Amino acid sequence: MRILVTGANGMLGTDLCCLLEQSGHEVIRSSQREHAESDVTLDILDFSATRATLQQCKPDMLIHTAAYTHVDGCERDPDRAFQINALGTWHVAAACAEQDIPIVYISTDFVFDGRKTTPYTEFDPPNPINHYGASKLAGEQAVQKLCRRHYIVRTQWLFGVHGKNFPGTILELAQKRNELPVVVDQRGSPTSTLALSRALIKLLDTPLYGTYHIACKGECSWFEFAQKTLELAGISHVTLHPIPAEQWPSPTHRPAYSVLRRYVLELQGRDDLPAWQEALEEFIELLKAKK
Ligand SMILES: NC(=O)c1ccc[n+]([C@@H]2O[C@H](COP(=O)([O-])OP(=O)(O)OC[C@H]3O[C@@H](n4cnc5c(N)ncnc54)[C@H](OP(=O)(O)O)[C@@H]3O)[C@@H](O)[C@H]2O)c1
Repeated sequence: MRILVTGANGMLGTDLCCLLEQSGHEVIRSSQREHAESDVTLDILDFSATRATLQQCKPDMLIHTAAYTHVDGCERDPDRAFQINALGTWHVAAACAEQDIPIVYISTDFVFDGRKTTPYTEFDPPNPINHYGASKLAGEQAVQKLCRRHYIVRTQWLFGVHGKNFPGTILELAQKRNELPVVVDQRGSPTSTLALSRALIKLLDTPLYGTYHIACKGECSWFEFAQKTLELAGISHVTLHPIPAEQWPSPTHRPAYSVLRRYVLELQGRDDLPAWQEALEEFIELLKAKK
């Protein structure tokens, strides 16, 4: 398939484009700014340009990973969050609908309020509690309303070697500090961009459009995630201190429990995501190899 990927130089986009190519797809890398690896420069806030890009490139499928992902930035500037995540997605979805191009929209666990104590399925009602989550949900709604052929894929706690992420930050801090406070009362499923990309590629094999949760197996707190990161990296000089989220300096109210259950994949008998610890081990090996 000929697949156009928005946000192609982002953390997920970079790995996804590589794996798509490795599995035989033709990839058109679209990025907001000019970039050595990009095929197309596109600001999704420009609807005419979005439309023209799709008319020129004629992809068989579009994977929309571009977003304003800075959660605290979204909280401080909700209009920017809605501009990029809601209106930008609306533009991409409208252009796809007009040209009958199936779309994959990457969404988030932050569409949920975190009040459940068991994993969220695709059939649980969203109820975002911050502007990032609300703007991403608005993006989901645009895709659902405008595109007949869509996959909405909610994922969470992403980490990959091509972007800023939690385990990467813990390893950086461990080079400078012996003690680190880490939030202990928020739980999720850490998911690598590689595991997500592999699962996305399999998803594209079937025209079973709809909403999917794709996250690695298992769950943990940020504290346990940090512990495992240090353990796998062989770092023992750092003492982690568990703190409640309210002590973490952030303007954003985050869901306390947002574990995603891959319920639709389970029902379809094709839930083969790896455990988060296994994905983390692969990430740490790749980081070591990069040095
Ligand atoms: N990271 C997570 O933990 C997480 C969790 C759940 C869901 N997600 C979702 O997964 C997707 C990928 O996340 P990520 O962490 O890989 O994001 P990322 O590294 O921040 O990449 C996002 C990309 O979007 C591009 N972008 C922003 N505004 C744009 C615009 N107006 N026009 C075109 N491109 C624009 C950015 O380009 P520039 O760099 O040029 O600005 C960037 O390359 C996002 O949809 C996100 O909401 C992420």
